[in-house]
This record gives sequence, structure tokens and C-alpha cells, in this order.
Amino acid sequence: MIRPLLYLVSLCFFAGICGLFYLFLAAPEPRHIGLSETEGDAVRGTYIARMAGCIGCHTDSKGGGAQLAGGPAIETPFGVFYGPNITPDERTGLGRWTLQDFSDAMTAGQKPDGRRLYPVFPYTAYTLLTDQDLADLWAALKTVPAVTDRAPPNRLNALIDQRTLLIPWQTLFLTPGPFEPDPDRSEAWNRGAYIVEGPGHCGACHTPRNLLGGLEESRPLAGGEGSGGEKAPAITAAALEAEGWTAADIVAALRTGLTPDGDVLGGSMGAVVHGSTQHLTDEDRQAIATYLLSD
Ligand code: HEC
Ligand code: HEC
Repeated sequence: MIRPLLYLVSLCFFAGICGLFYLFLAAPEPRHIGLSETEGDAVRGTYIARMAGCIGCHTDSKGGGAQLAGGPAIETPFGVFYGPNITPDERTGLGRWTLQDFSDAMTAGQKPDGRRLYPVFPYTAYTLLTDQDLADLWAALKTVPAVTDRAPPNRLNALIDQRTLLIPWQTLFLTPGPFEPDPDRSEAWNRGAYIVEGPGHCGACHTPRNLLGGLEESRPLAGGEGSGGEKAPAITAAALEAEGWTAADIVAALRTGLTPDGDVLGGSMGAVVHGSTQHLTDEDRQAIATYLLSD
């Protein structure tokens, strides 16, 4: 009796170790960016930076901090994070990074020394960015004045305060990009899909998360949490239609922050409108609405 049991236990143990090895070894590799630094356009990059909300998380506006020199506290169930200094400062910012280093951070959540980044930095969405948009963003970041400053260190729950744990996390929850357009859909739909799923990272708040903080990809945009635990409603086509939203209402709300009932979009959505969607072209806001309202 004992022998088969021992056999079974060691088999399970062995399978568990193999599983762990797999999770550590199968993490997605960074992709090679096929562009050089000179191929980026800073003006276009500034527009993508707005769309992607980089400034909000990396600038302590309330504390009077310099642009992109380090962000305000971001409260999550896993602890408090601070967006680091991403100005071109050599010591405390990205001054020594290459375009490839930047692409690795944005699309694979990896630092130049190979350490992994916490997904509160929404690289699971940014991984969809095209190489051209990455090069443009990088060109824009280089035009920002270099500031020597450090954001406070993250204050994380002891259990997850270990970047090595992010390797298996990435195996489970990072699906590498770039975005692939759907040839059966219109240009506007594809543009909207790119913005919502990629740079706009709408799912970071509007898609529910599992216990490990991964986005539940089977329930996209079905309602999640904004920063600090506030509720972000479902923005699926069905949910928006049930609430009576038309494409024109969505376009207007993303531009002005006002809902069809005259309410003001508050909390972190207020910040998204203020820092991001109000600066987009009407064409891009229309594309977002087209995508959100499609089945
Ligand atoms: C929701 C908040 C948020 C947004 C939006 C955001 N970031 Fe971050 N970012 C962070 C946090 C937090 C970290 C640090 C994560 C960590 O400690 O692992 C980070 C890390 C980074 C890093 C790595 C820096 C380093 O020194 O390791 C880069 C580069 C970066 N962000 C660039 C950007 C760019 C460019 C954008 C816009 C396209 C952006 N971020 C948008 C929160 C954000
Ligand atoms: C940082 C978190 C966050 C991000 C990112 C975010 N949202 Fe929101 N969103 C919210 C919250 C919170 C609300 C609820 C606001 C309220 O009730 O005042 C909301 C509300 C909305 C609403 C109104 C829905 C309704 O039924 O009232 C729409 C539409 C919307 N968001 C679209 C978007 C789109 C499109 C994006 C991406 C470009 C996006 N959101 C990104 C947090 C976020």
C-alpha cells in the first residue's frame, strides 16, 4: 500500500517541479525592433505618449514634480508602486538606454539587466505597439529635459516583493504583440482595436483581474477596477448599448468627460480624459467608439 502511494507522491512532486521549470523557462522573449533611433518622429511620439497616458503615471503633478521625473503613488491590492523617472537623465532616468532597451521594457516588461517589471506598468497592453510607434515614443522621450530625481521605492506586500516571481507571471499572462489587424474588419475598427487594446490600455481598468493580477482575457472589458479599487464599469458593446450609449455619446464623453446624462466621468476616468482622450483626434475617438460598439 505504502509503495504505490510513495510513487504517486513523488510523481506529483516531480510534475510540480517540471511545471515550475516550464513557467520559468517559457517566459516570452523580447522582440527585436527593426528600426533605428533616427527613424522615430518626436511629434508623432508625443501624440502616442498622450494616448498611452505615460505622463499621468510618471509625473507627480500634485507634488510639483518635473515632467516624467517620477510619478505619484499608485495603490493596488499588491502594494504601492511609483512610476520611475523616465527622463533622459544618465544616472536616475533612461539616459543610457537604447531604443531596443526601451522596446524590451514596453513590450516584454524587461529592464536592460534582465530584471522583470511589475505589470502595474501596463506592458501587457503596450506589447501591441507597432515598432514605428515605439520608435516615435522613444524620440519624444528624448526631447524631455533630463532631471536628476528618484521616485520613492515601491512598497509591496512581502510575498510578491521579488522580481523573479514575475518570470512565471509573464509566462502565464503576457501575450506578446505586436498588434495584428483583422483583414475582415474596417480600417476604423482596426484603429480602434489598436488604441483600446494597445496604447490606450483601457482593459487595465475595465477588464476584470484574477487573483494573481492577470487580466481575464476571456472577459475583455467586462468591468474591473480603477486605481485605488474604484469600480470601472463594463464597456462591452452589450453593456454600453444597455446604458443607451451611442457612438456620438462615446466620442463626446472621451472629448469632454461628460456622459449623455450630463454626469461628469470621475475618478481615474476623469484623469484618463484629462491626460489622454481629450487630446486625441476626433477620428481616433470615433475609431474607439466603432470598436467598442462592435460585436
Ligand atoms: C498605470 C501607470 C503607468 C502608465 C500608464 C505608464 N507607466 Fe511606465 N511604469 C509604471 C510603473 C509603476 C513602473 C515601475 C514598475 C516596476 O517597478 O517594476 C513603470 C516603469 C516604466 C519603465 C521602466 C523604467 C525603469 O527604470 O525600469 C519605462 C521605460 C516606462 N515605465 C515607460 C513608460 C511609457 C513610455 C509609458 C507610456 C507609453 C508608460 N511608462 C506608462 C507605471 C506606468
Ligand atoms: C485608470 C483606469 C481607467 C482606464 C485606463 C480607463 N478607464 Fe474608462 N472608466 C474608469 C472608471 C473608474 C470609470 C467610471 C467613472 C465614473 O463612473 O465616474 C470609467 C468609465 C468609462 C466609461 C463610461 C461607462 C459608463 O457606462 O458609464 C467609458 C465609455 C470609458 N470609461 C471608456 C474608456 C476607454 C475607451 C478607455 C481607454 C481609452 C478607458 N475608459 C480607460 C477607469 C478607467
